[in-house]
Parts: sequence; structure tokens; C-alpha cells
Amino acid sequence: MATIKIFLLLLALMVISAAAFERTKSLEKYTYIHLYVHIINPTQPLVVRGPNKNPLGFGNMVMVDNPMTEGIDPSSKLIGREQGYTIGISRDPNFSSTINFLTLNLAFTGGEHNGSTITVMGRDPVFNAKRELMVMGGTGAFRMARGYSFWTIDSFNTTGNSLVEGDIHVYHY
Ligand SMILES: *[C@@H]1O[C@H](CO)[C@@H](O)[C@H](O)[C@H]1NC(C)=O
Ligand SMILES: *[C@@H]1O[C@H](CO)[C@@H](O)[C@H](O)[C@H]1NC(C)=O
Ligand SMILES: *[C@@H]1O[C@H](CO)[C@@H](O)[C@H](O)[C@H]1NC(C)=O
Repeated sequence: MATIKIFLLLLALMVISAAAFERTKSLEKYTYIHLYVHIINPTQPLVVRGPNKNPLGFGNMVMVDNPMTEGIDPSSKLIGREQGYTIGISRDPNFSSTINFLTLNLAFTGGEHNGSTITVMGRDPVFNAKRELMVMGGTGAFRMARGYSFWTIDSFNTTGNSLVEGDIHVYHY
């Protein structure tokens, strides 16, 4: 008897949670964002110097505040700023082995996502052609966000300037 009651209770719980899952899934939205980040020296100052000689090395902390535009041209529509910090996390003194841990807020101040933010973070081997960072969350239209993002360096030059392309896949409510 008791076994049957427990079985029925478990069955009811399964039905309820499946329904809740279906409901949650149906409310979830998907947004794809494509943007360009213009890193223009010296918008990324080194604020903490780690023990290595490597200027991007272990323990070095760099502040980030870069414009994000809709198009590849820096004078194309400004949609917000990428703001946060990176910290060198690889003890390898070789410059080419630089790996950063970074936390960035993509703060939208124009375009269709104006007023909302997305937070991306993760491990960034800076010399890899394509980096993947997780989408940790967001605010406004991107409340409860999760997802993933890809970042590619399109070009850079000796002045320290670089152009980075972002592909962001966001699931949110
Ligand atoms: C640094 O890393 C690069 C790429 O992996 C390699 O070609 C180079 O030989 C390394 N340099 C040293 C001093 O280890
Ligand atoms: C973005 O939203 C803010 C606050 O609502 C508003 O003041 C501002 O004009 C908007 N900017 C653009 C470019 O739409
Ligand atoms: C390279 O430097 C020049 C001169 O400062 C600048 O006009 C150009 O936009 C830079 N390229 C990139 C990719 O930042």
C-alpha cells in the first residue's frame, strides 16, 4: 500500500515538474548579437603589475572600457561599451602563452538593446584566433541570461589598437 502511495506521489511530482519545465522553456527567448569592439590605446591601462616581466603576464590586471559598434567601421552606429577587467592567469613567462581571466559587462546604450547589459566571463588565451567566453547573466531585457560568445581579433597594429568581432548567443526571458 505504502509503496503504491509513494509511487503515485513520485508520478505526480514528475508530471508537475515536466509541466513547469515546458512552461519555462516556452518563455525562454533567444537573441543573437553581432558587434565590433574597438580597442584604442590607452583605453586599457595596466593597473596592477604581477611578478613577471611579460607585460601581459601572470597577476597583471588591466582595466577595459571600449566602444562597441554595430558595424566594422569605428564611426558606425555606437551601441554601447564593453567595460570590465582582465587578469593574467598563466605563470608561463612566454608572451605567446598569455592567458587572461576576464569579466566584462557589455553595456548597451543605443540600438535595440539600449539600457540592458550582458555579462561575459571566462578563460581567454589572448593569441588564439577564436576565443569562447560564457554568458553569465544580464539585466533588463537580458535578465536571467545564459549562453555563449565567440570573440575574434580581426586586426591589430603596433599602436596597440585592435578590432575585435563578437558573436553572442543569449538565452533569456
Ligand atoms: C613561446 O611560445 C611560442 C609559441 O608557442 C614558441 O614558438 C616560442 O618558441 C616560445 N618561446 C620561448 C622562449 O619559449
Ligand atoms: C537609451 O535609453 C536612455 C534611457 O531610456 C535614453 O535616455 C537614451 O536616449 C537612449 N539612447 C538611444 C541612442 O536611444
Ligand atoms: C592602426 O593604427 C592607425 C593609426 O593610429 C589607426 O588609424 C587604425 O585604425 C589602426 N588599426 C586598427 C585595427 O586599430
